[in-house]
Amino acid sequence: MSRSADHPDPPCRAWVAEAIRRVEADANRSADTHLHVFPLPERWGIDLYLKDESVHPTGSLKHRLARSLFLYSLANGWIRAGTTIIEASSGSTAVSEAYFARLLGLPFVAVIPRGTSPEKIALIEFQGGRCHLVDNPSEIYAESRRLAAETGGHYMDQFTYAERATDWRGNNNIAESIFEQMALERFPEPTWVVVGAGTGGTSATIGRYARYRRFQTRVAVVDPEGSAFFGGWVDADPTRTAPGSRIEGIGRPRVEPSFLPTVIDRMIQVPDGASIAAMRWTTEVTGRSVGASTGTAMWGVAELIAEMLARGERGSVVTLICDGGERYTDTYGSNTWLTTQGIDIAPYLKTLRAFPTTGTMNNIPDTP
Ligand SMILES: Cc1ncc(COP(=O)(O)O)c(C=O)c1O
Repeated sequence: MSRSADHPDPPCRAWVAEAIRRVEADANRSADTHLHVFPLPERWGIDLYLKDESVHPTGSLKHRLARSLFLYSLANGWIRAGTTIIEASSGSTAVSEAYFARLLGLPFVAVIPRGTSPEKIALIEFQGGRCHLVDNPSEIYAESRRLAAETGGHYMDQFTYAERATDWRGNNNIAESIFEQMALERFPEPTWVVVGAGTGGTSATIGRYARYRRFQTRVAVVDPEGSAFFGGWVDADPTRTAPGSRIEGIGRPRVEPSFLPTVIDRMIQVPDGASIAAMRWTTEVTGRSVGASTGTAMWGVAELIAEMLARGERGSVVTLICDGGERYTDTYGSNTWLTTQGIDIAPYLKTLRAFPTTGTMNNIPDTP
């Protein structure tokens, strides 16, 4: 005799179908993000582009990640009507996930470090989320797991699932969008794409896509001081830990499971003073307000462009505006905050302001 067992749950299937429709409809109402040209001296023969991820409905690159994580969890049958969504997040992912949770009528709890900017906490609450603060950033994972078990909720776990929740072969992921928007440029295949790593999901998507499409484009990951990614990558040690990053959104106290070292061609460790100087310099030059992680990326971009110039190479470089600076007026935007943190941005700012004339980053202070 054969045995069979059913798990019939038509009401749940209908709820999941409706939830997926709502998430897809949000994407369908949205336009693609702009790829802005950053002005560089014409004689250099190098073009720089900034993909503006701050214009998503929830103001950051994490809107893409939240959409992917919700679709992945819904398609996996991990979320049902009434499931409490819990996430370990230093801020922006939680803002975007709170938005999608509300879209689906689900409660949302963000487990975040106590040092998270008040602006970001206000944004999570504005999107209908609740914030659960922990003292030590490294506690967010275990605390999220504990809360999920206690409430019967679902821990999204961006740091594990980011790299697999995104459709890496296309479906208008960030990599496909960049390469399509570059199609009519004079150097359509960028020499470098420069990004930071929080989960590692964005660098994984871009690195895989470049290989899959057989482009020669290389991926550089910028990493702030205090992050474990740089040392973990250099020494091929996924168990590496570090104190943690002061640049919100990127740099982690551990090498996250979503971080894929094998698709990264170069890692650049950036001092916090350089990240914040580059954030302000980018706003000076473009008139666009950008966050500090964009500054980290721009510092790395300037170093790579200086290297291309020294070798007489022409080509293009692409990086991301991950979010706007208005989220950080009391921190990276505040000179008082810089003083309390013991950060001096002046020498870095001098180097960057001179960069369009000198084409070099040689006069940079020592990396801490
Ligand atoms: C400059 C920059 N690049 C990339 C990322 C990507 O993060 P993730 O590794 O989570 O995809 C971020 C996240 O905030 C960022 O600020």
